[in-house]
Amino acid sequence: MSDSSTVAEEFAAYLADNVGADPFPIFRRMREEAPALWVEPLQAWVLTRWDDITSMLEDGDKYGPLMNQPGTSSIFGRAILQMSGDEHRRKDAIIAKRLRGPRYLGSTIEDIVSGLVHEYGEQLPVAPETADLRTGLTEPVPLGAIAELMDMGEASNFRNWYNDIVAAGTSNVTRDPVVHAQGEAARDELYDFVTPSIEERRTCPGDELLSDLCSMEYEGERLSDDEVRSFTAFLLSAGIETTDRALANLVKHLILQPEQWQRLKDDTELVSSAVTEILRYRPPVHVTIRMAKHDLDVDGTTIPEGSKVMSFVSSANHDTARFDDPDVFDVGRFQGEERPNYTLIGPVRAFGGGPHTCTGSLLAKLEMERTLEYLLDRFDRFEFAGDVPPDTGIVLRSPTSLDVVLHSAA
Ligand code: HEM
Repeated sequence: MSDSSTVAEEFAAYLADNVGADPFPIFRRMREEAPALWVEPLQAWVLTRWDDITSMLEDGDKYGPLMNQPGTSSIFGRAILQMSGDEHRRKDAIIAKRLRGPRYLGSTIEDIVSGLVHEYGEQLPVAPETADLRTGLTEPVPLGAIAELMDMGEASNFRNWYNDIVAAGTSNVTRDPVVHAQGEAARDELYDFVTPSIEERRTCPGDELLSDLCSMEYEGERLSDDEVRSFTAFLLSAGIETTDRALANLVKHLILQPEQWQRLKDDTELVSSAVTEILRYRPPVHVTIRMAKHDLDVDGTTIPEGSKVMSFVSSANHDTARFDDPDVFDVGRFQGEERPNYTLIGPVRAFGGGPHTCTGSLLAKLEMERTLEYLLDRFDRFEFAGDVPPDTGIVLRSPTSLDVVLHSAA
């Protein structure tokens, strides 16, 4: 795009052909020139500044859930992101108990994740062969973790259901009817599989997340079977592709910047900081969506009541008002100041913020840290098997494949 193109034209061009493009220079221009921009192709107002995005995520008086949005909710109905107030707090707490509570996170989940990383890591082919890291490691680890947590490890079709539901949800921005129909079919199969388990757990609860969902009461009533099924499908969508893509981004940038890989080899204390840094530098989820509850003034622009508002959290993570040298990938950036709980007030917006901050952030952090530690321990270095894989996606963004050659540590 020439310098004379408007910021709206430049952003529309990115939306039209995002494959391989670097959106961060466009985001910088938007933060400077049009921090609240009406974007016709999205039929939405787009926010790019850290302060405005944080306000959108935290201020429930100004912004609320957007109902009937395209995406995963059209496949499996109303989910936790569409809830608010007491209902949201109570229902989120059920998942949080299992995903964030030290009792499970520090023992059961830790064992599950470490076991999965080791199991899949050991099967990776090494040089001179090519390893497909997406299908060989970064996808099966979070997929296996959710299957275990929901006690659905025996469902041999779990991976296919996941792939079809996700493809029909967040990623189906063009609303392809064939993809949508496949997603609905996968959802129906998943629901058929999970329904007898729900009945069983109603009478005989076990020690896993599905039993928690079947047992909890809200306003004196248990969640309906529909709600439990919907939660199950939501967790498949929220907890797998996100971490998978985050790991793909991490590996890609450690190959592109081998001096950062070497820093980690020399000092594994930096692992936690490196994971936080990749979530800042190249978050897998770029966008969160809300609706304006009233006419709102954002940096002098009026956003009318009822408008769809899309916050590019990826842009917030590169705002110089919040981060020094934001375009530099520095694995030591958060050393000594990691926020072990990824609390609501942390500056990195990869997990959102406010009441809907990602409930699975500690699980994702654990999966990423154990995977990175494994790679550092097992391999001296790695390189792309071919060209550098381009990033694709507007809402979720990462390379879609990651073929690498792995060189074992001596
Ligand atoms: C690196 C990996 C992940 C990233 C970047 C990520 C990102 C996010 C973001 C940005 C939100 C907020 C969306 C919004 O405000 O509109 C969110 C919400 C959520 N995520 Fe994650 N997520 C990740 C992994 C996980 C995992 C592993 C799980 C669970 C197994 C999970 C479960 C959830 C849930 C339940 C919510 C809804 C929270 C609520 O509404 O209160 N996520 N995630």
